[in-house]
Amino acid sequence: MKKDIRTIIKQMTLEEKAALCTGASPWTTTPVERLGVPEMIVSDGPHGVRRVADVEALILDSLPATCFPTASCLASTWDTGLLHRLGEALAKECIALNVDVLLGPGANMKRSPLGGRNFEYFSEDPFLAGELAAGLIDGVQSKGVGTSLKHFAANNQEFQRFSISAEVDERTLREIYLPAFEKAIKQAKPWTVMCAYNKLNGTYCSESHYLLVDILKNEWGFEGLVVSDWGAVHDRVASLRGGLDLEMPGPQDRRVKAVVEAVRSGELDEAVLDESVQRILHIVFKAKEVPKNGKFNIEEHHDLAHRIATEGMVLLRNNGILPLSDHQHIAVIGRSAEHAHFQGGGSSHINPTKVAVPFKELQARAGNAEVTYAEGYPSDNSFRQEMIDQAVSLAGAADVALLYIALPSFKESEGYDRQDLDLTEQQVALIKAVAKAQPNTVVVLNNGAPVAMSDWIDDVAAVLEAWMMGQAGGAAIADVLFGRVNPSGKLPETFPLKLSDTPAYINWPGGAGKVHYGEGLFIGYRYYDAKEMPVLFPFGHGLSYTTFAYSNAKVSAPTFKDVDGLTVTVDVTNTGRIAGKEIVQVYVHDQESDLVRPEKELKGFAKVELQPGETKTVSIELDFRAFAYYHPAYKQWVTENGKFDILIGASAADIRCRETVTLQSTLTLPCIIDKESTIKEWMADPCGRAVLEPLYRQIETQARKMFGGGDHGDGVAEAGMDAMEMMNDMPLVSVLMFQQSTLTMPADEMVDGLLRQVHDTNR
Ligand code: BGC
Repeated sequence: MKKDIRTIIKQMTLEEKAALCTGASPWTTTPVERLGVPEMIVSDGPHGVRRVADVEALILDSLPATCFPTASCLASTWDTGLLHRLGEALAKECIALNVDVLLGPGANMKRSPLGGRNFEYFSEDPFLAGELAAGLIDGVQSKGVGTSLKHFAANNQEFQRFSISAEVDERTLREIYLPAFEKAIKQAKPWTVMCAYNKLNGTYCSESHYLLVDILKNEWGFEGLVVSDWGAVHDRVASLRGGLDLEMPGPQDRRVKAVVEAVRSGELDEAVLDESVQRILHIVFKAKEVPKNGKFNIEEHHDLAHRIATEGMVLLRNNGILPLSDHQHIAVIGRSAEHAHFQGGGSSHINPTKVAVPFKELQARAGNAEVTYAEGYPSDNSFRQEMIDQAVSLAGAADVALLYIALPSFKESEGYDRQDLDLTEQQVALIKAVAKAQPNTVVVLNNGAPVAMSDWIDDVAAVLEAWMMGQAGGAAIADVLFGRVNPSGKLPETFPLKLSDTPAYINWPGGAGKVHYGEGLFIGYRYYDAKEMPVLFPFGHGLSYTTFAYSNAKVSAPTFKDVDGLTVTVDVTNTGRIAGKEIVQVYVHDQESDLVRPEKELKGFAKVELQPGETKTVSIELDFRAFAYYHPAYKQWVTENGKFDILIGASAADIRCRETVTLQSTLTLPCIIDKESTIKEWMADPCGRAVLEPLYRQIETQARKMFGGGDHGDGVAEAGMDAMEMMNDMPLVSVLMFQQSTLTMPADEMVDGLLRQVHDTNR
């Protein structure tokens, strides 16, 4: 095929090449019929196939397809195998609906719980998000259908999403905002990557050579095509130069002409255009290897959506009321019991094949119990006391009240961010009033991201986070409430106590065209750990109807080389009376490092199913990257010799076992001592130290003399300070300037000479 593509490119006119790099319509690429190049059809994504009936039109009406749970719910499964199965099902629907590339998944970080599209993203943790994205991509592509990993990169808010510049330092970008993409790209090789709307450090992602060429294509070896988000291209020529292969949506005749003219005038090298043409042709032909026709099995896929939703439900709190049993009268309260809120608004909106109505599903499992219903809250934001009153009297007369509370779409959707973490005023008042009348009150939440609960959580008996759970989610809720399924989901993001506690709070959502990622590496649990701050529910939290004990934690070696990695094993026992699944999490803590690091970071996890009394040994591999951090001065991932703690836990706040290991770094880092290096940096670098050590004592003596007549034996000089504490953080050249009178040559020259020695030793 490669050879054919080269031949085709040779036969293409400049106009045909330029046209190929822009869509023919909102959802199709440009065919070149005379050369046998077909069109390729793309559709949203990510949790279902939104195949518009008419691909020539940019309208939202789409053909029926299975609406699977959204990413928040998917991520709560922590199950890469299940996401693989989901991917296979999505591919089958793509094949049946004539779709070549599915526009998803999204692997952006949940920087703030206010992000309007958080329901479409997996996690606040890059490792978890990367693993899940890779599983899904692999599943879809195993059936010969493409994916588009989006939105690359730093697309973490909706406010001014088409124009804002995410201002992110390099280390934060490498350690937090890029690794999920990196992992998914290296592991699962998505056919396409969708660039984000926003700018990154002043440059549109659609024009960023640094992102699209230096990192994505060259460093990570991405071989597919980069497609723009819909309408993300501003200057087509600049975007081609920046590595953006395909502009969507089309048609954009003026842009195509601009490309032709730019090549003719020499402004754009034709080789750059050819490279994009080659990448597009490669994917277009690959897409056509699988014929698109047939049907998908609606029931089978609904069942899969059901299964995934049950695995993604997170039981946040339970005083023992759940699973429900022997309740003769169940009061079901809340609009979302009748009108399931199972997906978010915007481009991911699916036209479902069918919908499991939560109330009906509950009734079907309730046996002989009487089940009554009150709406509880309206569909709009109005306050309706009479609805609360009605709910209260219903709840008071029952044995248990189930409150189905959905965050309305005017509060959460693609296109705008949330303004707060709150449910509506009516919903909060409803929960409080019902809980007062009925101690056995269970709250079932449908939302895409954390909501505040402090006002009422202590008044209710249980809370089930059911997320935007897909079209079959109503059945999954009923299964969990009645104990037909033992809940096993765990939170892929922290639930904060209040908005002002959140990491990005004072840097959100930015203004004047920029949003500063001032919290740096410290998003999600990394932030709450560093601040030792209490949260509502920690990252990784989720209850079960059984209990698990962890024991016998082991590491493969107490001392190991970074390149060899480490195997961590732990025994997990089901200590309860029913079967269940536990998600075991492995975090790594670096005891000492040159640059500040988060207290701990998730580097491995496993989900294990256990019968009552059963024990299984869980084994988790940790590789080089589990211990490394990105050093901006070296511009690479580095490991440092020293001790690391391996923390094995049931959540970020529930560490059950701890092992300490010693890492031996195999890296030989280039010397980065320069004229600005401080004395401490000279002494920390092996070459710097070798060169400076003979002079160090002399510098120290002079320093102490200057600050009041020398050392009095306690290390503190007369001036009341420790001179070397101050000097250590000054550049060598500045210290020597102060000591110029004691030197035989100008301080500058002396440092230049020392630097030459350092670089000679280093060679
Ligand atoms: C969204 C993308 C989506 C595209 C096509 C954009 O507005 O950001 O996620 O794939 O539209 O619908």
